[in-house]
Amino acid sequence: MPLTLADCLARDADASASASLQGVRDRFAGGDPDTLYFDANSIGPMPADVPARMQDLLQAGWAGARRRGWNTLDWLEQPRTLGAAIAPVIGARAEDVRVADSTSINQYKLLRYALAAQAPRRVIVLQRDVFPSNRYVAEGIAHAGLADLRFIDGVQDLPRALAHGDVAVVALSHVDYRSSERLDMAAINPQVRVAGALSLWDLSHSAGAVAIDLRGTEADLAVGCGYKYLCGGPGAPAFVYLHPRHADAAWPAMCGWMGHASTFDFEPDYRPGRGADRFLVGTPPVLAQAAFAAAAAIWREVDPRALDARHRSLTDTLIQLLDEQCEPLGVQLASPRQHERRGGHVAVRFEHAAPLAQALVDHGVVVSARKPDALRFAAHPLTATHEQLWTAVARLRELLQRQAWRDPRYQQASV
Ligand SMILES: Cc1ncc(COP(=O)(O)O)c(C=O)c1O
Repeated sequence: MPLTLADCLARDADASASASLQGVRDRFAGGDPDTLYFDANSIGPMPADVPARMQDLLQAGWAGARRRGWNTLDWLEQPRTLGAAIAPVIGARAEDVRVADSTSINQYKLLRYALAAQAPRRVIVLQRDVFPSNRYVAEGIAHAGLADLRFIDGVQDLPRALAHGDVAVVALSHVDYRSSERLDMAAINPQVRVAGALSLWDLSHSAGAVAIDLRGTEADLAVGCGYKYLCGGPGAPAFVYLHPRHADAAWPAMCGWMGHASTFDFEPDYRPGRGADRFLVGTPPVLAQAAFAAAAAIWREVDPRALDARHRSLTDTLIQLLDEQCEPLGVQLASPRQHERRGGHVAVRFEHAAPLAQALVDHGVVVSARKPDALRFAAHPLTATHEQLWTAVARLRELLQRQAWRDPRYQQASV
């Protein structure tokens, strides 16, 4: 039986399905009422109290406290407190996560840390088709003569890549940024470990969307964006995770005062802070942290299992709607059907994905496209509804029926 609007409304009304998420949606700002947002894989929704928190920080913190803010407010602690708030969603202990810098920079820090801890091994294994910045960061390290790169086309190539006994670190995207294919951390981590290498996961397209178990699967290192599903705000700092067994394995590549064992003693020589603290470098971005703190307050109350269940319900619904309404019009599912194999978004394949995405945006449905032919729907599990998915797919069907993607207005590229 094809899914109806009434079915979608019933799924939204079925509070028992995610009882512990009740009321969470109201803690986010609604955005433009005529727009449906499916771009949580770019920028997640804004918690409703961000403006008040920012206003308070600007008045009381900047205009009022100024330098004293470092002592009287929690600015210096926030890399730890924000990390602790998001730790359960990624299956980590609070003390092993820090929020700082960008994902690319954290990727650099952790690759270098792994190389230092694993010397004389110097091979970085990475996916050939990974998010470009991850590849660029690794290429930069190799270009400086500090590592050799070995590319794999998929995890099926891992045994071959690991066989030489020279791999320091295997850097993998947990979820492919185009297809949303999610890798099986529980299966891959032991493989990497037995080969004497460390695992480094980029969780940008899964953290805050689905449940992740870094600790339970014995992952070594991880990074991920703060501004996507974690709702830290545009340009929010990223997170960094270090398994405690590597807490004192090496010096960090970037030794800064915030990562020193005793920052305010102003010792002449560097001593690394304990564990993930050593990945802090310079002065934290206080304004950005204030926005992220609003999301952190919400994450402290979210049960990761409920988040995961809600994500499953929304994305299963979306896939069924796309299959039933749009597949006959030339749109094919590009993401895995099995929820455990899927990350935050659902992607479909359509030859003219980029202009079609622009047509959708123009008709109030914010989605994104990625080359060559992926159209991505990233519904945030804490805010999206099944009804919104119904409306979005109905609009997509209409646009496909009248071939709106042919319109010259939609031919220029956008992000
Ligand atoms: C999978 C993935 N990794 C890394 C990045 C880069 O993150 P940043 O700009 O914070 O360095 C992105 C950005 O979208 C991403 O999607």
